[in-house]
Amino acid sequence: MPSADEIRDLQRATWAGLSAGWEKWDSVITDQLGPVSAAMIERLDIAEDRQHLDIASGTGEPGLSIARLSPKARVVLTDLVAEMLDIAARRAKAQGITNIVTQVCSADDLPFDDATFDSVSVRFGYMFFPDVAKATAEFARVLKPGGRLCSSVWVKPEENPWTTITMQAIATEAVVAPPDRDGPNMFRCADPGYVSALYEGAGLRDIAEWDVEVELVTRSPDEYWDMMSEHVSLAVAALQQVDEQARERIRAHAIAGVSVFEKDGKVRVPGVARCVVGRKRDASGTREGRVGAS
Ligand SMILES: C[S@@+](CC[C@H](N)C(=O)[O-])C[C@H]1O[C@@H](n2cnc3c(N)ncnc32)[C@H](O)[C@@H]1O
Repeated sequence: MPSADEIRDLQRATWAGLSAGWEKWDSVITDQLGPVSAAMIERLDIAEDRQHLDIASGTGEPGLSIARLSPKARVVLTDLVAEMLDIAARRAKAQGITNIVTQVCSADDLPFDDATFDSVSVRFGYMFFPDVAKATAEFARVLKPGGRLCSSVWVKPEENPWTTITMQAIATEAVVAPPDRDGPNMFRCADPGYVSALYEGAGLRDIAEWDVEVELVTRSPDEYWDMMSEHVSLAVAALQQVDEQARERIRAHAIAGVSVFEKDGKVRVPGVARCVVGRKRDASGTREGRVGAS
């Protein structure tokens, strides 16, 4: 079992290596994951003049959308990887967003005082933290009483053909190790109730989970393959194990697999994410702080 430091080091190297792919495919990723940001933002109930913390922001979502929608709010974008946050800062500048700051830090060791933020978001970050319970305790600690935490994770692989097509193609040529249930991987938090239990453990209340459908849209099967092989952590790692000829066969396999999703001149591959919201107990312990008190 790797130590927390080893996990962080590996994640840092992995995401620094993936950052160019995330910047290149930014508009496709933004469109695919937009419904998840929208669902999270709706339940975070962001008001003007608020302090919002985005964890594992990567290239900036949903933090940048929150900053754009609430120009008087102050949004802090955080990530373990400076290269990812540099892209977020470039995207903010390109979109004319000025009410953000970026800060490199790990989710399980936040450099913020207790009760600093009105809301916290974590889009597709939970799966990669060395200690998910410790990270959740940190989110609860930095939330103000009554503040909300909303995160999203992927549900099981079977409901996410946008990624399983690529992984199945890779498995025809490379050994793909079964994911470690307790270690960083894309589907680590897929079980219903997994994230809710973490929220409960950190003392959050009014917890709810719901699923959100997404669709990865590319102009062709070839573009699907180029995008997937350049930005998905599992795929990039697995493809490094094989030689050029095997890579070509995997590519052909993936392109054949995704072609069944071609429609009206585009490729549209579905997927499902799960969002989870919860609230920190009110200082008074009244009303919203009590489960089932309404
Ligand atoms: C799948 S990306 C999600 C990025 C963005 N939130 C989005 O939804 O587009 C996962 C991010 O988690 C970050 N990450 C991995 N381990 C982390 C840790 N211990 N603390 C903070 N961020 C971490 C990675 O650097 C990467 O940017």
